[in-house]
Amino acid sequence: GKKDTKYIDPIKLVGKDLLYLTKNIKRLIGSGHPLLNTISEYYFSSEGKHIRPLIVLLMSQATSIAPKQYNAAYTEHFQTMDKPLSTSSLFETLNSKDTSSTLYYPSFSSTGVIILPTQRRLAEIIEMIHTASLFHDDVIDESEARRNNPSANISFGNKMAILAGDFLLARASVALARLRNPEVIELLATAIANLVEGEFMQLKNVPSKGTATFEYYMEKTYMKTASLMAKGCRAASVLGGSTQEVSEIAYTYGRNIGLAFQLVDDMLDFIVSSKELGKPAGADLRLGLATAPVLYAWEEYPELGPLIKRKFSQEGDVKKASELVYQSNGIEQTKLLAASHCQTAINAILKLPESDARNALIQLSQKILTRKK
Ligand code: FPP
Ligand code: MG
Ligand code: MG
Repeated sequence: GKKDTKYIDPIKLVGKDLLYLTKNIKRLIGSGHPLLNTISEYYFSSEGKHIRPLIVLLMSQATSIAPKQYNAAYTEHFQTMDKPLSTSSLFETLNSKDTSSTLYYPSFSSTGVIILPTQRRLAEIIEMIHTASLFHDDVIDESEARRNNPSANISFGNKMAILAGDFLLARASVALARLRNPEVIELLATAIANLVEGEFMQLKNVPSKGTATFEYYMEKTYMKTASLMAKGCRAASVLGGSTQEVSEIAYTYGRNIGLAFQLVDDMLDFIVSSKELGKPAGADLRLGLATAPVLYAWEEYPELGPLIKRKFSQEGDVKKASELVYQSNGIEQTKLLAASHCQTAINAILKLPESDARNALIQLSQKILTRKK
C-alpha cells in the first residue's frame, strides 16, 4: 500500500554516517610511505557513488528493529566500541553496570533504530574492498579514466596501482579482523574470493557442462558484483545480532540489488556517453565481453554468434554488434530483468518491520534502475 512506499531519501537517513566514510577510510590506510598513501587514497578523493556503504548502513538500520539472535548484542557492542570518549560522568555510570539506565542507548530506546560502530566500520571495509578491486580492474581493463579523472594505472603506472589495491585489501582485512566476529570475517573473505572468481570467469569463459551462456553470465555477475553486496548486507545483520531468518532476508535483498546494479551497468555501457559515465563507454565490446544486451540481441539475431565467439576481435565486429544490439530488444530486456531483480529485493525487504530505513531501501532499488551513471 501507500504506506510501504512513502518517499524517504536514503541519503537523508544515513548522510551523517556517509559524511565520515572517506575520512575514516583515509585514517585506516595511513602508511609509512607518503607515495603509497597518495596512491591508495587516489580513488577516495573523487566522488564515488558509495552505493555499497549506503546499502550496508540502511540495512543496519532496517534490521536493527527486527528479531534478534541474542539480547546482549547491543549492550556488548556499546560497552566495547562506543564508549563515550571524554564525558567522564557518563563513562562512570557505564562502568557501574547500571543497565537499567537508558542513557547510553538514546536512539535505541526512542525509535529502536541505530547503527552500531561495528556496522559503520563494516561499511568502510566494504568500500575499501570494492575500491581495491577497481585499482586492479582498471589495470586488467587497461582503462584510462574513472570518475572523470585519469585512472590510477594512468596516473601512477600498473605496478603501483596493483600494489595500492593490495594494500587497501590488506588494511581492509586488518579492520575486518578487529570486528572480532568470525562469521563476518568469513563472509567478507568469501566475497573477496568471489570478486576474483567473477573476474576470472569474465577473462576466461569456461562454463561447466550444461551451463547455458546466459546462466554463466549471471553467475559471473553474482561473483563480480552481487556477492559483496549480498554478503555485506548479511554481515550487517549478523553484527546487529539478527536471527538467521532476518540475515537471510538481508542477503536476498543485497544479492538481487547487486544483480540489478550490474545489469544496469552493462546496459549503461551501451546507452550513455563516456562523459556522463566518467569512464570509457562502449568498453565491454571492445574488451571482448558479451553482456546481457548482446546475449539478448543474439536470440533475435543469430548472426551475432560467431562475433561473440571470437570476442569481437575482427575489424568491424564491435560496430556490427552494437548496431544489432540497438536494433534488437536487448537493452529493453536487460532493463526488464534488472527490474525483476529489484522486485525480488523489494519483496524480501518487505518482510522486515516497517521503518524509514526499509522504505529507503525500497527507494534505492528504484534509483538503481533509473540511474544514468
Ligand atoms: C568492475 O567491473 C570490477 C569489478 C566489479 C570487480 C573486479 C575484480 C577484480 C579485478 C579482482 C581483484 C579483486 C580484488 C579484491 C583486489 P567493470 O570493469 O565491469 O566496471 P567498470 O566499467 O567500472 O570498470
Ligand atoms: Mg573496468
Ligand atoms: Mg572489468
